[in-house]
Amino acid sequence: MQKLSIAVIAGDGVGPEVISGARTVLERVGERYEIVFAFQEFDWGAEYYFQHGRMMPPSATEALQSFDAILLGAVGHPDIPDHVTLNGLLLPIRRGFDLYANVRPAVLYEGVQSPLAGRQAGDVDLVVVRENTEGEYAPVGGFLYHQQPEEVAIQTAVFTRRGIERVVRFAFDLAVKRNKKGRVASITKSNAQAFGMVLWDRVFQQVAQEFPQIETESLLVDAAAMNFVRRPQSFDVVVASNLFGDILSDLSAIVTGSIGLAPSANLDPARRFPSMFEPVHGSAPDIASRGIANPLAAILSSAMMLDHLGRADAAGAIESAVREVLAERRVRTPDLGGDSSTREVAAAVAARVG
Ligand code: NAD
Ligand code: IPM
Ligand code: MN
Repeated sequence: MQKLSIAVIAGDGVGPEVISGARTVLERVGERYEIVFAFQEFDWGAEYYFQHGRMMPPSATEALQSFDAILLGAVGHPDIPDHVTLNGLLLPIRRGFDLYANVRPAVLYEGVQSPLAGRQAGDVDLVVVRENTEGEYAPVGGFLYHQQPEEVAIQTAVFTRRGIERVVRFAFDLAVKRNKKGRVASITKSNAQAFGMVLWDRVFQQVAQEFPQIETESLLVDAAAMNFVRRPQSFDVVVASNLFGDILSDLSAIVTGSIGLAPSANLDPARRFPSMFEPVHGSAPDIASRGIANPLAAILSSAMMLDHLGRADAAGAIESAVREVLAERRVRTPDLGGDSSTREVAAAVAARVG
């Protein structure tokens, strides 16, 4: 029996619904693979904010530190400004634990219709590796003459050689490990952003020298957006800055049929801190509490968690179960054109895992 301690932050909106689905599947996989999950729930998020005036306690990262991993649903509430919720919870955890590699796979599964014409299952199999601690998301800046007519806002992007180099190297290592197309595409906007993005391009070229067996391309982000639609099949690993990786991973998600299918891992590859696993999607207030959110992104995120924790066997079982359920085209939530509930989909996956 292996025991894994998991901190659960279900969060807001559809977060608790999809996390409940993921836990159903994890419990089942635990029975089959002799893993005991010690889940501890943290009630942080919008409701906590309404009571305490903050999204999580100041001691939050200390409380999370000793867990093997963190499973997160989503954060965001229509009655609280988004910069308050996200800068109060998600982003400080990513930075606080130095979870610099945000891994966001996008796979077009059998049984799922891409909105792009003529795409078959398997045509899209890429992973966006997003820099997750600095870049355009660095909390550096401020207001001058706040809320005065002459107001000024400064928002500074921060690119460090160390920060670029480590995430680019992670992307190359991943391309080797995936052993698929053996390709890494780097995305910048160095024609317009002549400092940070130019440094990125240079570091990318340098790290590429260490991986002569990997094919590379450098794309400007506007062209990359076009090519995610025009030739998604050509991408393998795509490495991008924090903001560009955020945007491109919503695009890669929809190209594979739904954002409700897109998982992610926020990794500390050095394993000094617990890594965090969460769907790419947000709290989806438009469908929250209706029981129809697709739990597969959360379920696949929990598979990424098991893989990171050394249980590729259990992770693979979840992925196969998800593939089977999708290929059967029977039990699916409305985002995939079905009429099943979150629970029914989670139960269908759990049944195939068991
Ligand atoms: P969103 O991802 O929540 O929703 C975008 C669209 O996708 C909506 O139409 C929604 O119904 C649909 N969708 C999302 N998840 C789905 C699922 N599991 N099944 C079926 N459909 C799904 O993005 P948004 O509307 O831009 O943001 C809503 C809130 O979530 C905001 O407060 C935002 O800041 C926050 N947000 C949080 C995270 C996070 O916690 N990681 C990520 C993105 C957005
Ligand atoms: C994501 C989200 C977050 C991000 C937001 C909610 C801050 O969009 O995880 O993709 O941009 O990182
Ligand atoms: Mn996003």
